[in-house]
Amino acid sequence: MTEPAPVIAIDGPGGAGKGTASRLVAGRLGWHLLDSGALYRLVALAALRAGVPLDDPGRLAALARGLDIEFLTADDRVLLAGEDVTAAIRDEACSQAASQVAAIPAVRSALAERQRAFRRPPGLVADGRDMGTVIFPDAGLKVFLTASVEERARRRYKQLKEKGIDVSLPALSRELAERDRRDAEREVAPLRPSPDARVLDTTQMTIDAVVARILEWAATAYPAAAGTGTGGDGTRPER
Ligand code: C5P
Repeated sequence: MTEPAPVIAIDGPGGAGKGTASRLVAGRLGWHLLDSGALYRLVALAALRAGVPLDDPGRLAALARGLDIEFLTADDRVLLAGEDVTAAIRDEACSQAASQVAAIPAVRSALAERQRAFRRPPGLVADGRDMGTVIFPDAGLKVFLTASVEERARRRYKQLKEKGIDVSLPALSRELAERDRRDAEREVAPLRPSPDARVLDTTQMTIDAVVARILEWAATAYPAAAGTGTGGDGTRPER
């Protein structure tokens, strides 16, 4: 039997730096990237647009199973039924709706196989909430990134401002705390570190330091992968 491709699971709450760190680590190693949050955001967007109530498990799971999605890695865009929804899935209404649909077990199981299909040679960096606990429990490296809620809100604020989106810091902070609570308290796949995850508090760290630390751990977990990458594929603003 062939060995499954290596996986690095990077989990944690919103704004902890997972998105940026995952992209940079994947670029350095030359591995594939799974942004699992984007899948929940796409289900939410499709539901909002189709008028499917966010508490209707049957219809939401059917939506999740039938989603026509494309990730364009070259320029970091996401298509839903051929339409570019890269910006639409990042707005606050979609963020809140994503965390609502993500609490529904039937939606999570509808997305599970889709996520596992991203595991292909030479390897996968998987960014999410339950990558190490549920989707890839055999990942050779599991990282759980955290940061204070104030710092996470500040990062999100800066990123939205840079995009010209006007937001209030206190409102962002409240919304992040609300999503954290919902993600951590749900019954299925709650946000928490796997017992075998390495927990890294990024509050006082630069993104370069976070990436360097993860690459050090990766070199131990998957020695063959170290030094095989392309040297990074640029940065993406943090989410
Ligand atoms: O990571 P991101 O902020 O894009 O995720 C959006 C929402 O999707 C999260 O608030 C969370 O509720 C949900 N999510 C999840 N499991 C994942 C990834 C995201 O429940 N693996």
